[in-house]
Amino acid sequence: MTSILGISALYHDSAAALVVDGEIVAAAQEERFTRKKHDAEFPQHAVEYCLREAGIQPADLDFVGFYDKPLLKFERLLETYLATAPSGIRTFLMAMPVWMRQKLHLPREIRRGLGGAFRKSCVFAEHHESHAASAFFPSPFDEAAILTLDGVGEWATSSFGYGRGNQITLTHEQHFPHSLGLLYSAFTYFTGFRVNSGEYKLMGLAPYGQPKYVDLILKKLIDLKEDGSFRMDLSYFNYCAGLTMTSRKFDRLFGRPPRQPEAPLTEQDMDIAASIQQVTEEVMLRVARHVHQQTGMKNLCLAGGVALNCVGNGRILREGPFDDLWIQPAAGDAGGALGVALLIWYQLLGNRRETNRNDLQHGSLLGPQATDSEIRVFLDSVGARYRLLPDDEQLCDHVSDLIAQEKVVGWCQGRMEFGPRALGGRSILGDARSTKMQSVMNLKIKFRESFRPFAPSVLEEKTDEYFEMRHGQQSPYMLLVAPVRESHRVAVNGADAASSGIDKLKVLRSRVPAITHVDYSARVQTVDPRRHGRYHRLIEKFQEKTGCPMVINTSFNVRGEPIVCTPEHAYRCFMATNMDVLVLERFVLLKTEQPNAKEHEINRYLAEFQLD
Ligand SMILES: [Fe+2]
Repeated sequence: MTSILGISALYHDSAAALVVDGEIVAAAQEERFTRKKHDAEFPQHAVEYCLREAGIQPADLDFVGFYDKPLLKFERLLETYLATAPSGIRTFLMAMPVWMRQKLHLPREIRRGLGGAFRKSCVFAEHHESHAASAFFPSPFDEAAILTLDGVGEWATSSFGYGRGNQITLTHEQHFPHSLGLLYSAFTYFTGFRVNSGEYKLMGLAPYGQPKYVDLILKKLIDLKEDGSFRMDLSYFNYCAGLTMTSRKFDRLFGRPPRQPEAPLTEQDMDIAASIQQVTEEVMLRVARHVHQQTGMKNLCLAGGVALNCVGNGRILREGPFDDLWIQPAAGDAGGALGVALLIWYQLLGNRRETNRNDLQHGSLLGPQATDSEIRVFLDSVGARYRLLPDDEQLCDHVSDLIAQEKVVGWCQGRMEFGPRALGGRSILGDARSTKMQSVMNLKIKFRESFRPFAPSVLEEKTDEYFEMRHGQQSPYMLLVAPVRESHRVAVNGADAASSGIDKLKVLRSRVPAITHVDYSARVQTVDPRRHGRYHRLIEKFQEKTGCPMVINTSFNVRGEPIVCTPEHAYRCFMATNMDVLVLERFVLLKTEQPNAKEHEINRYLAEFQLD
């Protein structure tokens, strides 16, 4: 037996993944255990969980892999500083303590993290290699082109090549400071969202605006080539030398300073969001065409933070040259932990790789699961009132009724998801047909910005009826955005058609309004019985009763909170918010029956987490 632990840490989204004889046994992000979103510390808890899942000790591990090369990254930092000195001194000094304390002594840190019991080799992969490995090795393809689109690792900010059998070969790179990820993050910063977490909000905001600034961005900020590579005019950016993403010159270009976090969103913010989104999609499409032409491959694998831009992914699939696309669900740095472990198993050890139609990622349901007895002991300890339904059939029957009555349901089932999206393991569910759900869920359940869209989980076999996707197209990881079909749209006329900015939100656009974004798009998760068992059955039941083959699926957390992991996290979130129902495996709790349900708990609860 060969056990390989992969670790990603000390930059962003620490995580651990365990691969045993080529099988992905467990993977989890540290934030879920420590309850600190994007926790970047050494992933002590995630490592312990992975070993526990496999029933092994640190001494049983054959290899530990780290997802990037700290010395190369250090070199980039040093060279960037020297190139911008003395103005880069602040960035440099800010970064130094953690390098001196931890990053330059990683083998020591890793051995210490494993309690001193691990004495075999530590392997360090390059950052984009880890991303590429996480994209190709779990994919359903025997061979495919590979594209990584990222902020920055060591030097590479994007790379491409191909994978064949058990080997990947990366042939091209674009280097720091020219980076699609950093460009998008600069606009995330400028529109008042948090870098490395608010990118998703910027993408969600884009459909409210007009892409008025596309030409300006292409003329002034980046010099985009036909092959999708580009150079940035660095006088507009400040991330090499300063502590901000954009410079004064950038402010002058848009005639205003960056939006302050939580300040009201203006139409200009929306237009800027629409513009950078369109430029990003254009870059992604050009790169995809170039990669196709260079590799001659039929399929494409994607990873790196930009691969979470599911609007861009959807366009690559619909308009790009590839037959099919597979995207690592943990596309950001957490996924590097899985990538490096698989890289060691296949590339370094040369083990055979066999693919199957469903990929090797197991629905990304790779985290901890609570047992019935653990749930019961916990619920009894807090005095909760609950019913235990005897089987899945009765459970799904009951819960689908509640959803159809517009109840908001916390759904905590099976193993926790690996990656940033909730996929039916740790989700909050609601009725997609409801006209009030979008606002109820944003404002009363998740306490987040009202403009943010919700996504549907739809029965795989019904997906192409509702969305412009080809029959049988899978999207189990919610990484593809597709338009709602014309036949399910509702005609918009008069004053509604002329609405602009955030008012677009109030217009009814389809028969499933809660998951239809203002541009008629939806971020689709396909649900199938092979991966999703009970969750699939629930949606089937809901369809039998209502004719609607989908529910709203949003992550089980409030704003700023990592997605819940344990029954206790789920119960606390349920009790603090206006959620109506909590389902923990087959245990069902109704809020109205809880003796401890109090009003206004939410402020205390929200204060535990930092706004994202
Ligand atoms: Fe990365």
